[in-house]
Parts: sequence; structure tokens; C-alpha cells
Amino acid sequence: MHNTVLILDYGSQLTQLIARRVREAGVYSEIHPCTMPTADIQALAPKAIILSGGPASVLEPGAPTLNKDILNMGVPIFGICYGMQLLAHNLGGELATAKNREYGPADLKITKQTLLWQNLPADSTVWMSHGDRVAAMPTGFEAIASTADLDIAAMADEQRKIYGVQFHPEVHHTAHGTAILRNFLFQVAGITPDWTMSSFIEETTERVRRQVGDSNVVLALSGGVDSTVVAAMLHRAIGGQLYCIFVDHGLLRLNEAETVMDNAAKYMPGLNLKMVDASQRFLAGLKGVTDPEEKRKIIGRLFIEVFEEEAGKISNVKFLAQGTIYPDVIESFAPQGTVIKSHHNVGGLPERMHLELVEPLRELFKDEVRAVGHELGLPDSLIWRHPFPGPGLGVRILGEVTAERVQVLQQADNILIEELRDSGWYSKVWQALVVLLPVKSVGVMGDARTYENAVALRVVNSVDAMTADWSRLPDDLLARISTRIINEVQGVNRVVYDISSKPPSTIEWE
Ligand code: XMP
Repeated sequence: MHNTVLILDYGSQLTQLIARRVREAGVYSEIHPCTMPTADIQALAPKAIILSGGPASVLEPGAPTLNKDILNMGVPIFGICYGMQLLAHNLGGELATAKNREYGPADLKITKQTLLWQNLPADSTVWMSHGDRVAAMPTGFEAIASTADLDIAAMADEQRKIYGVQFHPEVHHTAHGTAILRNFLFQVAGITPDWTMSSFIEETTERVRRQVGDSNVVLALSGGVDSTVVAAMLHRAIGGQLYCIFVDHGLLRLNEAETVMDNAAKYMPGLNLKMVDASQRFLAGLKGVTDPEEKRKIIGRLFIEVFEEEAGKISNVKFLAQGTIYPDVIESFAPQGTVIKSHHNVGGLPERMHLELVEPLRELFKDEVRAVGHELGLPDSLIWRHPFPGPGLGVRILGEVTAERVQVLQQADNILIEELRDSGWYSKVWQALVVLLPVKSVGVMGDARTYENAVALRVVNSVDAMTADWSRLPDDLLARISTRIINEVQGVNRVVYDISSKPPSTIEWE
């Protein structure tokens, strides 16, 4: 077991960022709701505990509280924003409600040297987002930094190793935020960093071998980052006991099936991988269907059917491997006091097939999945692929999905991706796609009037797909993409660029 830092979540949007920063420092961290029972905390045996920020006010009725047992565990504690206020309030200090919420950059002045500030300049920029503030500190604490608006911007009880900061060290806008977190982990808590991707690969290899014994494992390989890294990981761990099934539902990008097979042969030689061309079956199932949710359901149901049929042909299968990653399983704290668990894609499959799950990436954030893929020898072109939805082009063809419409969209989509790659923009954006609209419009080609399809280009920037903004592509690039699509793709005579952000729009159109 690795040296572990426990992050108790009080509902801040930034909690995952704290966990990632801690891991980037080489220390394994887990996020749990602030309501985590004491016995579970003890079982985790954390080397330090970080209390996250949160949207509530400590003073309002029903606000999440501090589990005071953690104060007696002899473990260093770091309260961030709400976490600091909670410590102050519970240990006998006083909070004051501010007239205005302070949001944005502030100039932090160190007023007392402590381990937390080691190698930091006396003045630096930090990022604030808070309403309440600490007005009087509990006994044993000293103010260790201030800003123009806050006398107590940070506080410490060095004896008990309890620290609090009002600002957010986890965000990049805090100039020395990473150094502050590292000082807490290494100087204050004295933790030895032992979380590396190579140690993760070694341990997971052993764990998977123990888990599956001599049984076989099936995996639905999609060609996306997560399932590809799972394949590489399990190929290394159990070799011939892994059976990958790649279902081509006919709604993939142009030449995608060949690319997936070629990549597998090149980077995972010897992998058991079967491609099933089920495109006719999917097209037949989608005939006449225009409702987006119905399309999704049909595609999902057929996928499971095809996968089950193929898996049924393999003997001694007891396990289903899945590319579940940490953000899918984090139990975070919702302000109403309920614990929510987010769900992932392959609903119902393991239960239906009576298979046990193998989820080798369950502990990893996406950037760690990529690092593992890199260590396992996968190329950047695979590791940095844009996300692609399970139902594929099925949800990018508005209206009925037909073989002809799939082809039109594949051609247009391929031009967009090619141009983004050639111009260096592919890696600068989160996702890029083309939507085939259910409208025809009038155009003119040569001397002739045309009446053809319109397509929309959708290119967005995002960090987690929860929010997104449309990418400001250079207009000459947009012009080139549009000209190429209209000239090269038969059946398209109009290209529009989607300039909506999420929310209120979504990334996909269906
Ligand atoms: P939206 O359209 O909800 O998309 O803003 C957010 C992200 O999720 C992807 N997406 C899907 N992925 N099955 C998937 O596996 C789906 O049904 C699905 N719908 C949307 C989308 O591509 C984007 O990355």
C-alpha cells in the first residue's frame, strides 16, 4: 500500500484538482465525502488529511461539519478555504461573514516563516474565492500570511501540524500553489513520495494476475484511450488470457476500424483481438429511427447483443475488463448532504453475463491513464486521441441514419480532422466533430443550382467535458476546411461553424 493522503470533500469544484496536484507530487491521494466514517478513515491510514473548499458557509444551518476525530489521529491536517474556516470554527476561533465575496487574485505577504512557506518569496499572487473569513484564531494558532483584505490569510499550529490557507493553492493562478502543497506533503507531513506510474504498472500487473488466476478475460476494445490502455495493461499482465472484441457498428470515423487493428498489431503484438463487422445489423436496427434517445438505446442494445455473442464463443471466461477511471467512481459530497456516485458507460453488461469486473485503471485520473499508456509503449497519437462517443456517428447524423448519410459524414469529418492535424490545432482542442444536419439548402455550383446537405463543424475547448467553449480557430483554417468539404464531399454544399458554449448547449448535437 502506498503512502496515502486523504482529501475530505466539502463540495468544491476544485477537489479533484487538489487530488491531482498531490499525485503529481508523487503521493497517492483519494477523495472521500466529508461524511466519511472515522473507522473508514482509520482503515485508510492516511499520512495526511486535506480538507477541501466548499460552497457553503460554515455558519449557516446544515452546513457540512468537521469530523473532530481526525484531530486526534496525530495526522497533519491542511484546510483549504472552507476547510480552514471549519478548523478555525471547531477549534475555538471566530469567523466573520464578509460584506462581499472576494474572488480573484490577491497579493499574499508571508508574515511568519513556517515549513509551509519554504523557498517561497515573501510576496506572491494567490487565488481567492470566499465569503467568510477567519476573524480570530483558535488557541495555539498563529497568522502566517496576510493580504490587503485579510489579516489572517493563512494560519498554523506548528506543534499539532495543522495548517489552513484561505486561498486555493491547487489552481494555477496561485503562483506558488504547487510549491505550497509540496511543502505541506514533504516538509510538514514528511511523506515519502512513492506513487509513480511504473510502480502502479508493476502492482496492477500482480494484482490482476492474482485476481484472474487461470480464467479468461474479455474486453470491449473501442480504440479510445481508456480501453486501449486497459488492453495494453492486461496484455502485459495476462497475455493470452485476454480476449479483446472490437465491434465495428458502422458508425465509426473513416478508416477507424483499420486504424484500430493496425495500431493493435503494431503496439500490442500478439494481442488476441477480434473485429466484428456488425454494421449491417446496426443500420437495419436504426432504419426509420430519428429520435436521439431511441437511437442511443438501439445502438447500446445491439452492442451488448453482438458483444455477448462473440464473448460466448470463448471458453473459460469469468471476467469482463472495463476502462473505468477514477473520476467515474469518486464519491463526492453534494451540498444537500447526499452522496452521489457518477456512473459509467457499460451499464448492466457484467450482471447480465455473470462476469466479475477487472478494472485496472479504477484508481487513475485521465492524465495518469495517459502516462501509463506512455510507459507501456503506446504512441502519442493514441494516447492523445479526442474522446469519441460510444454511439459514434449515430448521434452526429440528425434524423435517420442511413449508409449513404454515414458515408457523407465520414468524408466531411475526415477533412476536419486532417486539417486540424496538419495545422497543429488537433492537440490544442478538446474535441472536434462534424454534424450532418437534417436540412438541405440551395447552392450554386458552376452554372447549376444545387439542393444539398448542410453540415456543422463543432470544435471545442474543455477540461472535462462538463463545460466547454467553442474554439476560436483561425478564419483561414475554417475557410480551408469549408472549401475542402464543399469541393470534395459529394452531397454537401454548405458548412456552418457552431459557436455555442456548454452550458447551455452540449458538445454533441444529440
Ligand atoms: P455532451 O454532448 O453531453 O458530451 O456535452 C460530453 C462528452 O461526452 C461524450 N458523449 C458520449 N460518450 N456515449 C459516450 O460514450 C454517449 O452516449 C455520449 N454522448 C456524449 C461527448 O462526445 C463529449 O465528449
